[in-house]
Amino acid sequence: MSSSTPEETAPYGSGTSATAPGAAPAAPVKRIRTHHLREMKQRGEKITMLTAYDMFTAATFDEAGIDLLLVGDSASNNVLGNETSLPITVDELLPLTRAVARASKRAMVVGDLPFGSYQASPEQAYLTAVRFMKEAHAHCVKLEGGVEMAPVIEKLTQGGIPVMAHIGFTPQSEHALGGYRVQGRGETADRVRRDAEAVEAAGAFAVVMEMVPGDVAGEISRELAIPTIGIGAGNGCDGQVLVWQDAFGLRTGRMARFVKQYADVHQVLLDGARAYAEDVRAGTFPGPEHTF
Ligand code: KIV
Repeated sequence: MSSSTPEETAPYGSGTSATAPGAAPAAPVKRIRTHHLREMKQRGEKITMLTAYDMFTAATFDEAGIDLLLVGDSASNNVLGNETSLPITVDELLPLTRAVARASKRAMVVGDLPFGSYQASPEQAYLTAVRFMKEAHAHCVKLEGGVEMAPVIEKLTQGGIPVMAHIGFTPQSEHALGGYRVQGRGETADRVRRDAEAVEAAGAFAVVMEMVPGDVAGEISRELAIPTIGIGAGNGCDGQVLVWQDAFGLRTGRMARFVKQYADVHQVLLDGARAYAEDVRAGTFPGPEHTF
């Protein structure tokens, strides 16, 4: 007798799937798990990931069937008004992660370990990651780094914490890397490959590759058993991630080449705010229907 539950056997797509006539409808996945992601890779199904930093975007992206919600340290420069991802602290990121975890039913919620909260030692990393799991209800954590992070990844995974690694361009090291630069061009491709192999061997369940040439990222994706999630790493990765303010146009101005804009949320909000201000100034809002 099979001991698998509907959660384990159901399709992963958007929570619904076509069923044969007469067959009982497949139960939607209750929560995406690391093994679902690996199985998606094996089936050649692309994995979707977006950042989310609050309950309404999380619930919306979850409803859309996005597989992974990353409460990125990019909240630093997309929510808190900092110039880079470096200043955000664990205490600032925990409540955002908690909000996203509370608001999502299906997506796997990834807590991002902020700069300085894990690099000092595997023990420091473990204690920080535990806070994300216990206080913010994250389902896993993400950290930046390759070969040098292997002992940290081992410590966390041995302690029961699934780890998503992040290699290639790692924004927390932007000053060390000399700014936003593609990593892995020419001879440095081997370094990115070694990083990918090291994080897989250390136990990471997936790896983000940022700003890596598409051919290099594609080759690495084929070599690894764990899923790769690309951002500026071409179409050969097993999944893709974007920062939602970039993808849906809340951010304005110059955008990185790897961003595709799917909506113009800035314009929607601008139009809404202007219409509201006009009504208030004209005395037409609130009307009788809005008044007790
Ligand atoms: O913090 C973040 O948003 C990220 C993505 C760029 C992958 O790490």
